[in-house]
Amino acid sequence: MADISQALLDKFGRPARDLRISVTDRCNFRCVYCMPKEIYGTDFPFLPRRELLTFEEITRLATLFSRHGVKKLRLTGGEPLIRRDLDTLIQQLAAIPGICDLAMTTNGSLLTRDRAQQLRAAGLNRITVSLDALNESVFQQMNDVSFPVSRVLEAIEAAAQAGLTPVKINMVVRKGLNDQEIEPMAEYFRGTGHVVRFIEYMDVGTTNGWKLDDVVPAAEILDRVNRRWPVIPENPSQPGEVARRYRYRDGHGEIGLIASVTQPFCHSCTRSRLSPDGRLYTCLFGVDGRDLRELLRSGASDAVLSDVIGSIWTARNDRYSADRQAESPPLPKVEMFRIGG
Ligand code: GTP
Ligand code: 5AD
Ligand code: SF4
Ligand code: SF4
Repeated sequence: MADISQALLDKFGRPARDLRISVTDRCNFRCVYCMPKEIYGTDFPFLPRRELLTFEEITRLATLFSRHGVKKLRLTGGEPLIRRDLDTLIQQLAAIPGICDLAMTTNGSLLTRDRAQQLRAAGLNRITVSLDALNESVFQQMNDVSFPVSRVLEAIEAAAQAGLTPVKINMVVRKGLNDQEIEPMAEYFRGTGHVVRFIEYMDVGTTNGWKLDDVVPAAEILDRVNRRWPVIPENPSQPGEVARRYRYRDGHGEIGLIASVTQPFCHSCTRSRLSPDGRLYTCLFGVDGRDLRELLRSGASDAVLSDVIGSIWTARNDRYSADRQAESPPLPKVEMFRIGG
């Protein structure tokens, strides 16, 4: 394993450890906080196929990132399972030397038992499923395409049965919309081996009309869970992990809290993000990504590409969440569904 001291470091001394790869900007949900229906209607111009990086292009870039110290890859979208033949990409990524963890974040809508087993067989290690509520009408109000809770619960079980474990469940908590679902979610998944992560609603993108008032602070979420089922803090499972882990005292598993608004974790942020059309973002709140597709398609050598990636990382000085000003004017930030969170 490469020693951190030898790895490429950014302006704040952070190594490049994780690459999040968005394989499509399309999604079959219209979550109100991510792709509101009024904006992302049937005539919205999603990327045409020729604009998407091919699997070979993605694998080539991921290989170069791994040579710069990246160990962890995560497939995102949009909804990653919409991308055709994804197993081929997974096989290619799993074979890259130095990649220790290959995961995916999905809304679970296309994750049947067979699909989960195929993904595992292709080399995927873990899955995280987004689920914002157990209450049917609350969930459907959030996904805005009338997708039923039961199908997502089945997807979670399918992932677990296929060995894509531990299965994590992402719940974005938005005050007044689903915060009453915090305790039911904790209760339902206690003792199942799955890990619920409560996520503070963030000001990603430009279309969700985010207000600080919509955020339920992680400290409050923790307090509510702890009052019903006492928890104790657990050490991070890896450096730079975004979730703070807590274990139930009664041995019924663990939960996570992702407090990017009230307790930013930029100081340990080792992530970069590749958009479906090959732009590289060094922050979730990036305004402009560097176009790597242009370089790939103009015949750049590995050495040139590698130098470009290295120079982008060494120039990196992002710390958006740490600097966040609740009252600052909205920036033309990249949309969530283009870089997968
Ligand atoms: P693990 O590898 O299981 O720890 O996954 P993860 O938590 O890194 O990935 P996931 O896709 O499940 O993201 C969980 C939440 O954390 C989502 O709301 C992401 O948008 C958010 N998140 C992930 N990385 C970052 C980051 O670098 N900055 C901020 N602000 N939020 C992030
Ligand atoms: N704030 C926090 N998390 C979000 N996600 C999508 N939009 C937001 C937001 N505004 C979550 C998704 C998914 C993960 C990648 O990011 O629910 O689980
Ligand atoms: Fe799709 Fe995920 Fe965005 Fe919801 S949050 S619209 S599931 S990409
Ligand atoms: Fe990293 Fe940007 Fe998130 Fe901070 S806001 S943790 S720099 S992605």
